[in-house]
Amino acid sequence: MKYLIANWKMNSIDIQKWKNEFEDHYKEFKDSIEIIVCPNFIDLSECSEKFPNLIIGAQDVSSHSEGSFTGQISAKQLLGASERLKYCIVGHSEARSKGDNNLLVREKSEQLRNNNIEPILCIGENIEVLRKGKRDSFLLEQLNFYFETGLYPKLIAYEPIWAIGTGQAADQKNIIEAFEIISNFLESKKSEKIPLLYGGSVSAENIEEIMSLSNLSGCLVGNSSLDGKEFAKIAQKF
Ligand code: 13P
Repeated sequence: MKYLIANWKMNSIDIQKWKNEFEDHYKEFKDSIEIIVCPNFIDLSECSEKFPNLIIGAQDVSSHSEGSFTGQISAKQLLGASERLKYCIVGHSEARSKGDNNLLVREKSEQLRNNNIEPILCIGENIEVLRKGKRDSFLLEQLNFYFETGLYPKLIAYEPIWAIGTGQAADQKNIIEAFEIISNFLESKKSEKIPLLYGGSVSAENIEEIMSLSNLSGCLVGNSSLDGKEFAKIAQKF
């Protein structure tokens, strides 16, 4: 199975226009590809109705199940907005930069698991960590903390922060090295196979080169997913 994920982040999308453009350029849905759209909270319900052929994911969830947590949304409430919700992103670097530490990421995942929503765990280093040659230990720390209590994500996305939103995707060597770290870690945990995804400036221009990597199961796409036609072009080349 391959996974193509649109992370719309906090961008305003004309959902009907996106749908028309996507469907004009992507006609043959395949059972071997899950195309997952992650809109913001308020668009979850409209996306669920409008995209019967796509899988629905959320971008974030509270680490609590109920109560006095102003501004937060529980896993149960996510399901209330979309019964078809299957996934939720956790540990995205944009959320980590606003305070989501490893513990919070794990607590959020526990909430998701309790509600049968599959966590998509994002990990990735920033440019300083990379330059200092500390990428491998950094990734292992994020993974170790997450898996410590026996929790498993459904998908793992390697998203180097230095490649996100820059227009410059990581090169194959970097992705291969990071995947090797993750794969070895999973092997050491005797984990079942968890699909590995890449995210960071994926576009219709570079998708074929990225997808040619042998142990890559898919991509998380930010900017290039905001336009239905562009995202369809990526899906077409998948
Ligand atoms: P870009 O595709 O805009 O680099 O964003 C990647 C990302 O953060 C997906 O979660």
